[in-house]
Amino acid sequence: MDKLIVEGGQNLSGTVNISGSKNASLPILAAALLTDEPVRISRVPDVSDTNYMLQILSQLGASVERSSGTVRIESPDGISSSASYEQVRKMRASICLLGPMMARMKRCTLPLPGGCVIGDRPVDLHLRAIQALGARVRVKGGNMVIEAPNGLVGTTVDMRGDSGPTVLGTDNLMMAAVLAKGKTVIESAAREPEVVDLANFLNKMGARIEGAGSRTITIHGVEKLHGCEHTVIPDRIEAGTFMVAGTLNVSQGITLNRVCREHMKSISDLLVECGHVVEYNEDGTSVFVKPGERPRSGKILTNPYPGYPTDMQAQMTALFALTPGISVVKDTIFPQRFMHCSELKRMGANIKVDNGTAIITGVEGLSGAPVMASDLRASAALVLAALAAEGTTEIHRLYHIDRGYEMLDDKLELLGAKVKRVPDLEGGPQED
Ligand code: UD1
Repeated sequence: MDKLIVEGGQNLSGTVNISGSKNASLPILAAALLTDEPVRISRVPDVSDTNYMLQILSQLGASVERSSGTVRIESPDGISSSASYEQVRKMRASICLLGPMMARMKRCTLPLPGGCVIGDRPVDLHLRAIQALGARVRVKGGNMVIEAPNGLVGTTVDMRGDSGPTVLGTDNLMMAAVLAKGKTVIESAAREPEVVDLANFLNKMGARIEGAGSRTITIHGVEKLHGCEHTVIPDRIEAGTFMVAGTLNVSQGITLNRVCREHMKSISDLLVECGHVVEYNEDGTSVFVKPGERPRSGKILTNPYPGYPTDMQAQMTALFALTPGISVVKDTIFPQRFMHCSELKRMGANIKVDNGTAIITGVEGLSGAPVMASDLRASAALVLAALAAEGTTEIHRLYHIDRGYEMLDDKLELLGAKVKRVPDLEGGPQED
């Protein structure tokens, strides 16, 4: 286990390249199971979540080759329809194997995912969708045993849950439906860019999907899919995290390359509303970000895309901690996602959390402290706070950040930050 030591207060400037999207890569890698022909996927970020997914695919019997961001996967007939708890427990997103396994093998056994630190994360909508296509679901020994001996048959499914549409649920249904008999209509589909990227990938494999990116997706089942090549979209959450770094008071202005302006709208708009400088190049693939002269507090209400992403609220909370005035962050998607707040408070932030809402009163400065990462985006918030804080911050349990940020320490160093990754011999502050 590693920890990150950050010497705060260093000036940030320069340019970084944004990696391919982790959240787009995961279902796309799983979708490689839909064909026995090879698929080649570029810009897959080298992070532990994509590594786990590739490990699971190869344990199921697929052949996986990876070289500098490009992955080649071939899934011959005879791959296993069952994954063990040991294989999948490290990554909740392994639920997105359900759709492709059902489409390819008409049966699968997958461990039920447990809760996680950002709250109860049910899979009822995934199961409702696969049942609607004609599958039978049983729970046995902690596993979901799902079977559709007569194959999957297209129908209309509404994917809306109490907190809005589900992203991986929409992905799963799309992947299950591409090889189903007849037409499937997904109502209240998630509209995230990662869903659109998956649909584009599936269409390159020969699927017939229309409407991805809108509320209604229509899928005409086909007999067979084939191999293809695909490049994953830029990671909008990594880009957003670096944009926040670019607006910290220690930043002289930084440039991010390989971004997609269209995907960044709610994230960019909020930074501009808070008084910061956000300038894209003409084709929207590069952005310059600099702190404004008079930063203002702000309000976030997380919402499904195109609303403000829940995956960015922790990072903005770190920025608000140092912004004059009172900011409010309400997470409607994961109301328990505020673990970073108590750690930010240890660095001197003034934050009250109540009922899924954080109220942040900006302070003049933060001071470095030993802190503990609790989940992926919470750890990003701690890194941002540490960059702006006075003194040294030690961020323990760095494995959380390694799930989703490719070469974070190298990229921060490129911008002038002083960061060092070292083995965490003591394991950090006491757990639980
Ligand atoms: C994906 C993202 C994650 C992001 C989340 C919301 C990936 C790998 N992960 O997760 O980073 O934070 O979208 O944008 O892409 N829900 C149910 N029943 C279900 C499924 C979900 O009630 O069967 C609820 C969830 O508890 C949550 C809401 O629906 O309140 C949205 O979750 P969902 O979109 O499914 O999140 P993921 O797809 O797991």
